[in-house]
Amino acid sequence: DSPEQPRITVLGTGYLGATHAVAMAELGFDVTGVDTDPHKVEALQAGKVPFFEPGLDTLLEKNLATGRLRFTTDVASAVAQGDVHFVCVGTPQQRTSHAADLRFVEAATTAIARHLTKDAVIVGKSTVPVGTAARLRGLVADQAPAGLDVELIWNPEFLREGKAVEDTLHPDRIVLGGASERAERVLRRVYAGPIAEGTPVVVTDLPTAELVKVSANAFLATKISFINAIAGVCEAAGADVTVLADALGHDKRIGRQFLDAGLGFGGGCLPKDIRALMHRANELGAYRASGLLQQVDEINMGQRERVVDMTLEACEGSVLNKRVGVLGAAFKPLTDDVRDSPALNVAAALHLRGAQVTVFDPEAGDTARRLFPTLAYATSAEEAVEGADVVLVLTEWDEFVEADPERLAALTQVPRVIDARGKLPVDRWRSAGWQFTGLGRLA
Ligand code: UGA
Repeated sequence: DSPEQPRITVLGTGYLGATHAVAMAELGFDVTGVDTDPHKVEALQAGKVPFFEPGLDTLLEKNLATGRLRFTTDVASAVAQGDVHFVCVGTPQQRTSHAADLRFVEAATTAIARHLTKDAVIVGKSTVPVGTAARLRGLVADQAPAGLDVELIWNPEFLREGKAVEDTLHPDRIVLGGASERAERVLRRVYAGPIAEGTPVVVTDLPTAELVKVSANAFLATKISFINAIAGVCEAAGADVTVLADALGHDKRIGRQFLDAGLGFGGGCLPKDIRALMHRANELGAYRASGLLQQVDEINMGQRERVVDMTLEACEGSVLNKRVGVLGAAFKPLTDDVRDSPALNVAAALHLRGAQVTVFDPEAGDTARRLFPTLAYATSAEEAVEGADVVLVLTEWDEFVEADPERLAALTQVPRVIDARGKLPVDRWRSAGWQFTGLGRLA
């Protein structure tokens, strides 16, 4: 059987892996984080989180200091010493199709299998198309040294960026797919902290575990596109979608979360996950699911176009040489992640139409600049709205929601705002002299 206190390795130190490694060390385990990118490893080993995630830097420093946590590019020696190996690498969207690119998951699993020197449990956490884990089991069987008891199970992760630490240490549920009794025992020991606090554990087979993850994201995406579709009806009918969402949310069967109408979902997960599920559902002949998700995706992308159109309308049909102040670049607040960011997408579309776009984001300015170097970047909201013909609020950072609308109005050429996230206090902005347009709200 595995030792009382299994030693842990975590392969991949992006948002998921770095947080998982730090959280496992925080729970008292000996943890080695492994990545092929020496810059990431060097930063983490020096106590610097290479992305913005509230609370993670403090926890990283604290656990490095205990000596329980370390980061390396040396997969062979890390794996040789470990008992439980978490696969936390990315599964990006393929360039040529909607399918998930499984190269990193395959490479990480192969590397683990090859370097094992003792019995082990390999735990997949990455988001993968259903059927992947079964294939990876074949890889492990081929590559692992003979005579070792090696098992691959699936344990999807549901953490949100911006709340990654909290979600990892206090998950809503733990899903264990394909685990033997031994592997289940090992994993229950690893998660003893959160499980002791009453977290439900769902023990199931591999395909169900894989699918729970992508269906959770697909459901969240569907909820957002649903409210955005209704927002369109609200606009046409003169109704207010924010009041409507509050009223819907009082129904316990519906719930208020993920009913914020606006610019729609972005980031490294929801958009690619629904597309990968669409692709996989098609492969499996489950066309109804792919049809539904296709609509969800289209409604979502339509919101970005809608905000571009609203900006054009606000500028009498053309943004050529108009100054557009964009507040927000991250795909949501509390992160510096700009992957598939609706905010940057809209900013870039307006830039292409000849607008002079100036973007400000409290955290994502640098990551945004790397992706869209042709846009202008400000170092404050005030600077971004200076001389603006129209201001767009595209990410609902507190700093924008709580901004003083009078001060900002005085800096603009024309005090005109499009609130694409529905979070600004409309009355305050109107009484400060702003022409205010919101998505799905009364004009
Ligand atoms: C999402 C899921 O929420 C996590 O459970 C999951 O683990 C993660 O993907 C993943 O697969 O790794 P995340 O991408 O961090 O987490 O962000 P969310 O908080 O889900 O927000 C996604 C997008 O939806 C954001 O662009 C946000 O602005 C948008 N959104 C969210 C809305 O437009 N309306 C809402 O009401 C809620």
